[in-house]
Amino acid sequence: MRVNSPITINKTVIKNRLTMAPTVKFDYAEDDGKVTERHVEHYRERAEHECGLICVEATAVSPEGRFCKTHLGLWEDSQAEGHKAIVEACHKYGAAVIIQLNHTGITTTPDVGPAIGPSAVPVKTPAKMSREMTIDEIHETQELFVKAAIRAKSAGYDGIQLHGCHGYLINQFISRKTNLRTDEYGILTYENRARFASEIITKIRECCGPDFIISVRTAGIEPNVSSAISIAEEYVKAGCDYLQVSTGIEWEDSSLKERGEPYNLICSLGVRFHDHFAGRVPVSCANGLLDPKTVRYLIEHELVDTVDLARAVLADPAFCEAVLNNAKFTKCSNCLRCQYGPGMAHRCPALSKRMGLNVF
Ligand SMILES: Cc1cc2nc3c(=O)[nH]c(=O)nc-3n(C[C@H](O)[C@H](O)[C@H](O)COP(=O)(O)O)c2cc1C
Repeated sequence: MRVNSPITINKTVIKNRLTMAPTVKFDYAEDDGKVTERHVEHYRERAEHECGLICVEATAVSPEGRFCKTHLGLWEDSQAEGHKAIVEACHKYGAAVIIQLNHTGITTTPDVGPAIGPSAVPVKTPAKMSREMTIDEIHETQELFVKAAIRAKSAGYDGIQLHGCHGYLINQFISRKTNLRTDEYGILTYENRARFASEIITKIRECCGPDFIISVRTAGIEPNVSSAISIAEEYVKAGCDYLQVSTGIEWEDSSLKERGEPYNLICSLGVRFHDHFAGRVPVSCANGLLDPKTVRYLIEHELVDTVDLARAVLADPAFCEAVLNNAKFTKCSNCLRCQYGPGMAHRCPALSKRMGLNVF
């Protein structure tokens, strides 16, 4: 297998194995959650430089489920128009494009909404404890995801991705730390833990049709790899076409050890998922992929189907061309300054240099 080999996800042909991982911009959107010119140019540039599949950043399905007041949204019809511009800009260069849908749940900040989730558990915000969602609230929130997916389809996206990792609402339902319920959305069985997202997947499939990609970026470990795989199996049963694998809330697995591989342990979660799902569901790995050689290694050894690139393509979109054709690129220096927060300007030194900005 080569990095430039196409792959078909559902019915969509992706021209190579390089995907742009979802990466939120805290200073691009305004309070109205609409797409701005900066978003369009940002994704257009990554498509132009040969990303095969772009996954647009975590996008809020409701104003209460945002990271902060400046968070991209798809909670109302008027927001879909701007997304058309992102889709057109990416399709123009032959990239497929999906959008990650998210609700922050118990990690919501008090200036946007109450911290609600599967259960009442301690939270870091001034509320100190989250509030347990009622069954009606669970159904209403599922509906928010479905409506956002319908808007995504109307904007021309090839599919959606549910944000099911990194401690946000879908992840909160599958983790025993944040889900203490014993009802049908509770922690007692894999089916119940996965039910919140599985029902969303089933409904999106019904509303958006058989060809629409439904991906989940799932926790590769929760609290261990084997239970995370059992949960992903539930998503697949419901109709998920593509798994991207990252981290979850709990990490308790003695089977995960550094074995001298050229990729890190988080990336190895994707490799473990690929071992399990190979030939059935395409799997992507992520994390620490800042070197073209490692990306090629993962694909050429058929350890995963695609690789998610985050900081490497934030620092320089030409990273994809470096993987594909040894083009020159500016390497991410792993400074972590791109992990900026609400109210702060983008701080990647490589990106700033390229754009002629002096943000330091
Ligand atoms: C600036 C920034 C924003 C991010 N936003 C998201 C996001 O919206 N959704 C998501 O699932 N992960 C998000 N992540 C995590 C990345 O997708 C990725 O998993 C992580 O950066 C590790 O990959 P890397 O080593 O290639 O950067 C973000 C990471 C960064 C640096």
